[in-house]
Amino acid sequence: MVCLGNICRSPVAEGVLRYKSNEYNLPIIVDSAGTSDFHIGESPDKRSQENALKHGVDISSLRGRQFCVSDFDDFDLIYCMDSSNYQNVLRLARNENDKKKVDLLLNALNLGSNMSVPDPYYGDGDGFERVFQLIDGACEALIQKIIRD
Ligand code: 4NP
Repeated sequence: MVCLGNICRSPVAEGVLRYKSNEYNLPIIVDSAGTSDFHIGESPDKRSQENALKHGVDISSLRGRQFCVSDFDDFDLIYCMDSSNYQNVLRLARNENDKKKVDLLLNALNLGSNMSVPDPYYGDGDGFERVFQLIDGACEALIQKIIRD
């Protein structure tokens, strides 16, 4: 799960997907990263932490890290929160196989919609609940697809 800072959106996506994979007993390895180096080593934004916890998802122990080329080797699927993160990750791809792994998270819910999870960083608290709902819906669809396939 990839966003810009790895403190607002992608830690929520990591927490939600891990929570659901535990619920469904699926052995999935989940991680998240940011395309920037702005918040390496930092805890998720307090607003993301508090909002996720309202839904029973504890992301307090996660720490920011930057997306790196070896992530293409370590993961089968790389989901980006918005089109800018998507372009930045694609720019690091070494070959077609790397590129094939990358998609926008909301395409897991609405195939081909190419919608972005909006960046809530500079907005008010409501943005964080909206982000949670979008991510939750996409992760549920992703889990169902993994179960089907
Ligand atoms: P995120 O949100 O990409 O969802 O983690 C942001 C966090 C920090 C910044 C921008 C977006 N920033 O500019 O520091």
